[in-house]
Amino acid sequence: MKTNVTLQRFRSLSATLINVMPRAWRPATLLSVLLLLAGCGEPPAEPTAGTAAAEGHSAYNTSLDMRDFMNLILDPTADVLWDSAGWTDSRESGYQELYPTSDEGWDNVRRHAAMIIEIGNMLALPGRAVDNDAWLTYAQGLSQAGALAMEAAAIQNKEDFFQAGAQLYSVCSACHQAYNPEITSKFVTN
Ligand code: HEC
Repeated sequence: MKTNVTLQRFRSLSATLINVMPRAWRPATLLSVLLLLAGCGEPPAEPTAGTAAAEGHSAYNTSLDMRDFMNLILDPTADVLWDSAGWTDSRESGYQELYPTSDEGWDNVRRHAAMIIEIGNMLALPGRAVDNDAWLTYAQGLSQAGALAMEAAAIQNKEDFFQAGAQLYSVCSACHQAYNPEITSKFVTN
């Protein structure tokens, strides 16, 4: 019977980490300031017939629904990071570290950490973001955890990489808790 204790460790850590999530930090506020500033400049060009704006479409293709986004984009990317951090313990093979053991392995996790940064941005896109408040904070939290993982992978620092993975996990859980509490149980048993 193989036991993966990595996720268990993430779970216990995530309880603590959720408390340090920057709740007061409101990217939405910054966004509105930026929009105000942008509004002070040139008046926006009249949309011409035939452009996406004129037709009321967003400039972004956000047709992928949230379930597909999670299952096809975010989850597999995060899994690469989690499968490369911590350890497993089993009766047959004993204690095994999961961290990359080669430069190529670390490059691979660094690449996926970079994707997490950008996936945070994708979640924040107009047309995909569910609101301009907490949703954006969680999306930014994802990018932040990705950046930490990327830094740790660059210097092959296992402990920092593990912490970044735990932080990533806590952002997933916190957003699910806030926007779809049923997911939490589903997600945790995966
Ligand atoms: C900004 C908010 C947010 C963040 C951050 C987030 N999720 Fe989600 N996630 C959701 C929402 C909303 C749903 C429910 C989608 C639906 O069923 O409509 C969901 C659903 C899921 C599902 C279930 C999909 C299904 O088939 O029902 C998985 C798996 C998942 N997320 C994985 C992750 C992972 C892994 C992370 C972190 C690396 C993460 N999510 C971070 C909002 C988020």
